[in-house]
Amino acid sequence: MDLFIKNIRQLVTVAAHGKRALTGPAMNDPGVIPDAGVLCRSGKIAWAGPMADFPGMGGEDIPELDATGRTVLPGFVDSHTHMMFAGDRAEEFGLRSQGATYQEIAERGGGILSTIRHVRAATKKELKRSTSRHLMAMMKHGTTTVEIKTGYGLSMDAEVRMMEGIHELADEEMATVVGTFLGAHAVPPEFATDPAGYVRLIIDTMIPYAGKRSLASFCDVFCERGYFDVQQTEEILMAAKAQGMLPKIHAEELTHQGGAELAGRIGAVSADHLEKISPEGIEALRQGGVVAGLLPGVSFFLNHGYAPARAMIDAGVAVAIASDFNPGSCMSYSMPLMMTIACTHMKMTPAEALVASTLNGAAAVNLSATHGSIEAGKQADLLVADVPDYRHLAYHFGTNHIRHTIKNGTLLEIP
Ligand code: NIG
Ligand code: FE
Repeated sequence: MDLFIKNIRQLVTVAAHGKRALTGPAMNDPGVIPDAGVLCRSGKIAWAGPMADFPGMGGEDIPELDATGRTVLPGFVDSHTHMMFAGDRAEEFGLRSQGATYQEIAERGGGILSTIRHVRAATKKELKRSTSRHLMAMMKHGTTTVEIKTGYGLSMDAEVRMMEGIHELADEEMATVVGTFLGAHAVPPEFATDPAGYVRLIIDTMIPYAGKRSLASFCDVFCERGYFDVQQTEEILMAAKAQGMLPKIHAEELTHQGGAELAGRIGAVSADHLEKISPEGIEALRQGGVVAGLLPGVSFFLNHGYAPARAMIDAGVAVAIASDFNPGSCMSYSMPLMMTIACTHMKMTPAEALVASTLNGAAAVNLSATHGSIEAGKQADLLVADVPDYRHLAYHFGTNHIRHTIKNGTLLEIP
């Protein structure tokens, strides 16, 4: 709860100075302070600055952590995951390695529908247990806040099981967990000939149930050819908004549909993927103050092209990076790996990648007033990394540099 981290070689605050997210050239300034210290009290940041300016602890005996030679940064905010799932898709991975595409596999009844078969057969306890195991590993890799979507149930019963499971994990886990209802992830087989009937089930039954019980903070839709079109996406998100859930959209991933324009129009909190976004879509995100949630791991894992991050940042859009951790399109939860891919394939700088993975990720889940940066009054979610400089997190890839994860001022002992 109380902790003083001293002798930090490099403190990266990602200070927002009251802003919801950093945009444009400000994304290139992650707030670096050499030879620094951070004082955490009652789970919050009480002070952060140069060691030479440390005001002292007022005679109190507070536990200390020596960070000589190390870098301290905000915990990562993974603002887009599908990490509650059952089974795996290693078989499909093998097929994709031989040239089959994600869409071809989905059209043959694999893909999302294959994970749905496993999730429908799993109990809530099983789903929670595997998610909790993944969460532990994620925290070890520096993620302290995570968004988790439903969307592998696609029946009232299985979606409720997922929503409840995620909601319960939010209470039980150390990590900050944000729940998103994604009943509109795909049309389940029993509605194959009546997709409109499934949209009605979502709007008339699932959303009111979730809303009444406050089971999810956000509602998301996979706006894509063969999944849900722009009009259905809007209808679903409007119904969710009326029940207190904030809108998010899986937009312009495989084909351009106009999901980004819709996100701007309805004031979605984030529009994610965006590999196929148009210049008009970029402008709509900027005007609507929508966070662009980019998922470098998906482009890498599916090898289907990258979102134009540079154009979005240059246009003044708040860009966040997330893992999208799921068994089909990105079987990784390593935020530093996402940063590496953002730098090597999306022309983002290491500074922009870090801001996108912390403060702007927090903005993508509406938590940037309390999470995502090291500033007095915010949650003391910090990482101590065994690197001399934050750029090494993306540069020296494929290994875990996180030495300590600190959540709400508590130094976690992760087995
Ligand atoms: O974000 N695009 C849609 N949904 C997920 C993939 C889920 C899956 O393949 O299981 C995504 O990439
Ligand atoms: Fe996703």
